[in-house]
Amino acid sequence: MLQDRCARAAKAWGLTREIVLVGSGEPVFLPGHQDQTYPFRAHAEYMWLADREKPGCVLAYDPKEGWTDFVPAVTEAQRVWEGASGAEGVPAEGLAKWLRKRAKRPVAVLGARVKGVRSDAALAKRLREGLLAARRPKDAEELSRMRAAARATAAGFARAVAMIRPGATERAIEIEIEAEFFRNGAQRTAYDTIVGSGPNSGVLHFMPTGRAAREGELVLVDAGAEVSGYACDVTRTYPAGGAFTPEQKDVFAVVDEARRNGIERCRKGVEWRDVHLGACLDIARGLAGMGILRGTAEGLLEQDAQALFFPHGIGHMVGLGVRDAGGALPGRRKSRKPGIRYLRVDLPLEAGFVMTVEPGIYFIPALLKNEEKRKQYRDTVVWDRVDRMLDFGGIRLEDNVLVTEKGPEVLTASIPHAR
Ligand code: GLY
Ligand code: MN
Ligand code: MN
Repeated sequence: MLQDRCARAAKAWGLTREIVLVGSGEPVFLPGHQDQTYPFRAHAEYMWLADREKPGCVLAYDPKEGWTDFVPAVTEAQRVWEGASGAEGVPAEGLAKWLRKRAKRPVAVLGARVKGVRSDAALAKRLREGLLAARRPKDAEELSRMRAAARATAAGFARAVAMIRPGATERAIEIEIEAEFFRNGAQRTAYDTIVGSGPNSGVLHFMPTGRAAREGELVLVDAGAEVSGYACDVTRTYPAGGAFTPEQKDVFAVVDEARRNGIERCRKGVEWRDVHLGACLDIARGLAGMGILRGTAEGLLEQDAQALFFPHGIGHMVGLGVRDAGGALPGRRKSRKPGIRYLRVDLPLEAGFVMTVEPGIYFIPALLKNEEKRKQYRDTVVWDRVDRMLDFGGIRLEDNVLVTEKGPEVLTASIPHAR
């Protein structure tokens, strides 16, 4: 367990007599596949405090005595099948006795559930908020892993750039980018690699297929390496044949401007919703400039017209996993206002936060052929222009930005863009 993070969590909680348990979790079996399990991932709250990916572990906190690190004994089967050796910590059988000694005191279970223990839901909710707040600013070790993940990711993208050409399949690009991640220190991909060519570039989370990119098409690559639990999450969009068409170039310029402005807005004290709304305005203005939307940026945002082409948030917290400790400040409810309805993060930025900034413009038939929307935006969208672009696909550009006292630092700046 990591003493300094455990101390930070305890300080955030300020407890006097309540008990906290943080479970790592149990393996999840693949339904119908006998003894096969999904790859085990410890609960992020446990991982942050203990830095250990092992099932069946519990960190226990008593404000009067501090932390106890319960770890299950290594079984003979684990020694035989996995080569496991002695475990650190206190034998997990001791947890029941530890709890009996503290009966009658309120217990909050964070992390994964702990078998046989009832959690006080209201207390757990309050403590989870405190833990989230403690987790959000990255410490030196976390940043060092994230920089290592960014280096492996950069190596993968360099390889992708070298091989993207008409005839290269989405799957072949995926295989090479991932192999290069692993050669450069990644233990895993941070999420399922996205490679979409042509119209597939407009599917937000497209799974690569055997489709080969063609001259004149876009190739969108959204991929990231993971190092010791820490993720990188990067998107670049390239022209399959080495040069954008004039129309692709115009859309790229709008998205790139939204990306640059979004990075610039990643400063201490800035509300994340304002980073998002700024990008919505940039995109609305850009689409109006291209003759795809009609009106002022503010007027278009009022109607949420940009969301037809930019239907996701500007980004999310990244770090311990691709979706790190985001969320909203306590007491903040989800807004129903256009433009921010789907925002997953709603808080002011602080030094040490790492955010993705990922604007995109997509021509998604599922949205743009919808008759209701066509009626609603009859006068706002230049539909005959849009109809000619339904197989355009999409352009997304994504970087990982560290908020520092001095301003934004882009951890993924070395990853090449289309020239
Ligand atoms: N890689 C998925 C995302 O950007 O959210
Ligand atoms: Mn991504
Ligand atoms: Mn992302």
